[in-house]
Amino acid sequence: MTISDWRPVALAKDVLRRPRQIWFENMPVVLFHDGRDFQALFDRCPHRFAELSKGRVMQGAIECPYHGWRFQGGGKCVAMPGHLDDLPNIRVKSFAVLEQDQVIFIAAKAPDQPPYIHAMVGQDIVVKRVESRAQSTLLDVAENILDATHTHFTHKGILRGLSAKRYRVKVEVSGGPGMVEAVYTGEDKQQGLVSTLLEGGRTKTVGRFRAPGIAELEYWGPKGINLVTSFHLRQSTPQTVDGIGWLVGPRDGGLGHLKALFFKPLFRVALGQDQRILARSAANAARDPVAAPVVGPLDFLRADIERILNGDLPQASKSPRTHYIEL
Ligand code: FES
Ligand SMILES: [Fe+2]
Repeated sequence: MTISDWRPVALAKDVLRRPRQIWFENMPVVLFHDGRDFQALFDRCPHRFAELSKGRVMQGAIECPYHGWRFQGGGKCVAMPGHLDDLPNIRVKSFAVLEQDQVIFIAAKAPDQPPYIHAMVGQDIVVKRVESRAQSTLLDVAENILDATHTHFTHKGILRGLSAKRYRVKVEVSGGPGMVEAVYTGEDKQQGLVSTLLEGGRTKTVGRFRAPGIAELEYWGPKGINLVTSFHLRQSTPQTVDGIGWLVGPRDGGLGHLKALFFKPLFRVALGQDQRILARSAANAARDPVAAPVVGPLDFLRADIERILNGDLPQASKSPRTHYIEL
């Protein structure tokens, strides 16, 4: 887990036609397509600091909207309108860029390894890609995605709670370098929108965190995985967590599920509920007295997610744990 990991930052289709500003490591970055490839530059013209992303692409270079200096993908200034002699050697910081699976990945320096995307790469699948944003911390957002216990309250009646009944569930927590996961079994009778959408009952659910910031959920049925959601999160500014999510299902029957899951207004409602509670909790956390959050007995993954974010081995890799809870 280093700063040189590839991070997905935008959907390729959103950058093809016009430049776009994203945030990466607390820096504005302009993404643009130079006619052949996607490019990423620090979004600040070195002349008077205008945002290059407000300009346009001309002859394969991005043109600053203020005085028209142009910069090509590697960051070199290649035009200075009105100047007749040789161009001075002026550069703007550039980033390594990779397009994969219709998504633009960037890195401060090109990593040796291609990026991990999701658990069903290479299979016969249907894929939807979404962007997400929350005013929070990476740790809190990753935990929120993987936490089953908030659904009864934050999403009452939507993801759960169509019936008040809870079921006894076994939770097995294990891990390895840069990874921790919780496997839930025994909740196949759970009433809720998600399980109602999945055919054939549910045999297990897996919640997994991977370095550097990937929160994955897998919903398994008797025939294999029914649905995977893989959210790649990054702390884009100190207050903001941006993410690109992959929603993936087997092609056979998967499309209906994905559509239902993604387009259902109820699911949007659920996302909004999470965004609101995360933003308000983050704002509340900053009030005096500033305190460390309590890690409760059902917060199975938080401590290990935090270890992974710090570059340490998760506790669960040395000592896997089994819990029984009511969900
Ligand atoms: S600020 Fe960009 S060209 Fe002057
Ligand atoms: Fe949620």
